[in-house]
Amino acid sequence: MSNLRWWAAGILCIGCAQFLHGQPIYTFSTNGQNFLKIAFPTPCIKVDISKAYVERTNLFIPTNFNNIVDGYSRWGDIVGSLDALKIRDDTTESYWLSLLGQNGGISCMIEPRLLSETNTSKIIMVCSNLMLEKLKFSSIFEKALFQRDVFQLYYVFINCTNFTKTPLNGSTIDRKNHTASALKELLNRLRLSETDYGILTNAFQKYLAQAIKQRRFEDDDSFNLSKNFLPLAQAIYGQDWNEMRFAASMNRHFYQYGGRSFIRVFARTPGWSSQQFYSYWDNVNKSFGGYVHLSPRVPPLPAKTQLMLVRTFTVLMEDGTVADSTIPEEVLIRAFVTTNTVNLDRNSSDYRGTYYFDYKLNRRSLLKDAASLGLVRILDSEAIFFGFYQDVPDLKAAADAGVVSMRYSCIDCHALVHFGSGTVFSLERPRLKDIAADPYSGDFLKPIAGKNSRYTFGKLNENLELNK
Ligand code: HEC
Repeated sequence: MSNLRWWAAGILCIGCAQFLHGQPIYTFSTNGQNFLKIAFPTPCIKVDISKAYVERTNLFIPTNFNNIVDGYSRWGDIVGSLDALKIRDDTTESYWLSLLGQNGGISCMIEPRLLSETNTSKIIMVCSNLMLEKLKFSSIFEKALFQRDVFQLYYVFINCTNFTKTPLNGSTIDRKNHTASALKELLNRLRLSETDYGILTNAFQKYLAQAIKQRRFEDDDSFNLSKNFLPLAQAIYGQDWNEMRFAASMNRHFYQYGGRSFIRVFARTPGWSSQQFYSYWDNVNKSFGGYVHLSPRVPPLPAKTQLMLVRTFTVLMEDGTVADSTIPEEVLIRAFVTTNTVNLDRNSSDYRGTYYFDYKLNRRSLLKDAASLGLVRILDSEAIFFGFYQDVPDLKAAADAGVVSMRYSCIDCHALVHFGSGTVFSLERPRLKDIAADPYSGDFLKPIAGKNSRYTFGKLNENLELNK
């Protein structure tokens, strides 16, 4: 296609996206769309809200919430008249997931809001309506995405606790249990068969190939923020990229997402062979262990090193097992122009020569235009919640105002002091050297012997009761 035609197609796409905004995401049933409204409300919050929560001085939990939007506006009223901030229109993480109510390391949301009479009866109603309907999904992606959503809300209900961590009272426990069982029933109906799973993973591969053919993403030039750099296929298929495999129990992302997502990390180190890279990793790990991010003496990685983290979502299968959908919920990339030397580089994300790219799953994009892979880029200066859960007010972990720019979030965790190799957390984890070993053998997921890439839920997820 000529450049001009691409340009015209681009304009059309932008036009489409504008037009689609506000249109239903799920088309298989209005109840599906209603479910999304309740479980994944569009975050529209007042700036500084989570800071108020963390400081606890103004803390006041209103009890008469009718829905989440009410919640946001009332919190805003309490804190002051800051402008409302719209984060995203199609969020991957439910607002109800929050570390504030963290219970034994599992993220969950708290009473009274989610467990209110109004909310729980709405959820139960939507679930029972869906149980009565013949569910005709427009595509396997729609089915898998919807299963993912129901699973996330179920997870929240199973793990939810009280804000003050005092025991829930009898009627609240009843509401929690009733809602969880309605969700579980629906979830069981949405499990994938082996045929479904084959269609799902093949379809994603097909669209991945199409995305490459249509040059939807830039796969080479990572030092230009105006281009959407995303060499996903090269990393997955190991072309020029080396996977950094380490045990799931050491992987913060895997842990934070409670076994609902699979995490893979990849590195591209120009000029180095795989062997060179892996022996570098082993040496750094041996000498610095968990102190990589604290030491200025970590030997440099080559100039133009690129690192990528891919988080894909879990699907539940009819036979009770758990598998990787292979569809990313998030892709994070950091690329260093130089070795460990810091240069003023105004075009980079941190002005010091690091380029960040952040993509999040957008259901609407995946369903309307699968060759987009459903991945929508978050630009450096866009607002996100600080920390791992960008969609969610991460009330406990917010170190500053809860809402920050994307670039600030990356810098704050990775690179406040150091640059380059000293900011790569994955180097702190020992490499999983046994190629036959399964990296997902942590407490959340347990591999099933003899069944490749199939898991059951482990000890920390036992109360989900989703194994068969
Ligand atoms: C809450 C802290 C935190 C924030 C915020 C954060 N990261 Fe990370 N990141 C980590 C940790 C910890 C790891 C190591 C992998 C693991 O244990 O999950 C990691 C791993 C990575 C990796 C894999 C290679 C490596 O460095 O270990 C990439 C790439 C990455 N992050 C990019 C980003 C980008 C881009 C952003 C901003 C959008 C970001 N991260 C924000 C903590 C964070």
